[in-house]
Amino acid sequence: TDMTTDFIAIDGPAGSGKSSVSKAVARKLGFGYLDTGSAYRALAWHVLDRGADTADADAVLAAASDFPVRLGLDPDDRTVRVGETDVTQAIREPRVSGAVSGVARVPAVREQVNVLFRTLVAEAPYDAVVVEGRDITTVVAPDAPVRILLTAAPEVRAARRAGELARESAETVAAALHKRDASDSAVVDFLNAAEGVEVVDSTDLDFTQTIDAVLAVIERLRGAP
Ligand code: DC
Repeated sequence: TDMTTDFIAIDGPAGSGKSSVSKAVARKLGFGYLDTGSAYRALAWHVLDRGADTADADAVLAAASDFPVRLGLDPDDRTVRVGETDVTQAIREPRVSGAVSGVARVPAVREQVNVLFRTLVAEAPYDAVVVEGRDITTVVAPDAPVRILLTAAPEVRAARRAGELARESAETVAAALHKRDASDSAVVDFLNAAEGVEVVDSTDLDFTQTIDAVLAVIERLRGAP
């Protein structure tokens, strides 16, 4: 029997519905789920926790070399720990969101984190793991049997984000989203699909329709589970 674990690679920008869709797809197929953004967030938290400067590439790399992150692959248990500290809530705080782009920009840091992702998937007790991020289809798993770019029009993404963050105005959210897209896409291009990557545009789809569209691509490329 085939003992390797397949990557189901899903990239996309903030507000594309990537996380909730990836999680739902993993649940439905009995696959593992890996949110790579949470690892970058946990690293940003770790840098801040050490009192280091997130804009200092050497300090970030030193923190990445001593980074006892613990990420589960169960789509129903999204707990993230650094050492013994549960950082699941803390990594969503604005101070971390504001620092994470800078941390993710250091190439040597990305290489280290990518080794972690590949090891986690290789050792996973699943047939496949849905891995979502920004560079999964292009850098982390360019040979994955299924590679999807989940997109949506910028105004739709901003509206979804505003819905999640009920207290912020649509303009504030749109501005913050635009700023993070610009900063993140300077590192990896996740707004355009690489060759062979399937685009699922959720602009005119609701949550269920988006899940079905992703499931259809997986079934077409990999076969029914
Ligand atoms: O998806 P997210 O917002 O939780 O991602 C957090 C940050 O990590 C975001 O600034 C982009 C970055 N990131 C990345 O550079 N590469 C990935 N594979 C995943 C996330």
